[in-house]
Amino acid sequence: MEEHESTQLTLSQLQVHVKDLQQWQGNSNEDFAKLVNEFEALPALYRHALNDLQNKIDVIKTEWQSRDGFSPIEHVKCRIKEPKSILQKMERKGYGFSLENMEQYIHDIAGMRIVCAFVKDIYRLVDHLSTREDIRVLEIKDYIAHPKPNGYQSLHLIVGIPLVLLEGTRWIKAEIQLRTLAMDFWASMEHILYYKFDKQLPSHVADELKEAARAADELDQKMLRLRREILELSEGESP
Ligand code: GTP
Ligand code: MG
Repeated sequence: MEEHESTQLTLSQLQVHVKDLQQWQGNSNEDFAKLVNEFEALPALYRHALNDLQNKIDVIKTEWQSRDGFSPIEHVKCRIKEPKSILQKMERKGYGFSLENMEQYIHDIAGMRIVCAFVKDIYRLVDHLSTREDIRVLEIKDYIAHPKPNGYQSLHLIVGIPLVLLEGTRWIKAEIQLRTLAMDFWASMEHILYYKFDKQLPSHVADELKEAARAADELDQKMLRLRREILELSEGESP
């Protein structure tokens, strides 16, 4: 995930990116300008919500660190989807362009990736997030328990984050991807290898990629076993 700062979108750029302009033809220029204004204000809202979410995760990290002596969260990356990509995705998925459709269907405008050391820690973190009143877990996709056909593993959450505005509280959606280091390695490599490759993969390539995902999974399982063993040893040592 690269970091993208909010990009200002001009009226003409917006017109270029949205195919389905038909529905606006009945609108006055004033309505259209208002829509563009609201659209341009959105990245700032999502950025604030993502900053709030990042702060919550930082607090959890600090607490884990001081309680257990280490934090299972290895690193956190955040990004805001560029307006152009939002519009392309809406077009690809066949949604007419409106702010309502955007809020309802595009869940990854604010995106966070949390990379943990161990698989177990991912579930601990999800359990914790699910109990909080300042985060609404709206959807869970567990590609760890049920990997994608290509071997992809991660746990995806769609969450709501409350943003207190002058008009009142608005719940902003964000996508959180949780992975182990091994899963992140595989997904990053797969992305580098096949990014923009839109043809069908030769079957032996797809098979080897799936094999690599299994190897990453085995590595995760082995590390968990080692951790358990080391914990047992250190408990045995204590008086
Ligand atoms: P999108 O249209 O991509 O949002 O798919 P979706 O709405 O069905 O969501 P899903 O939870 O399946 O995937 C969302 C995100 O997870 C993607 O944008 C990627 O960042 C990541 N992802 C999903 N599948 C893969 C995969 O096979 N390989 C890699 N490298 N990343 C993936
Ligand atoms: Mg998605």
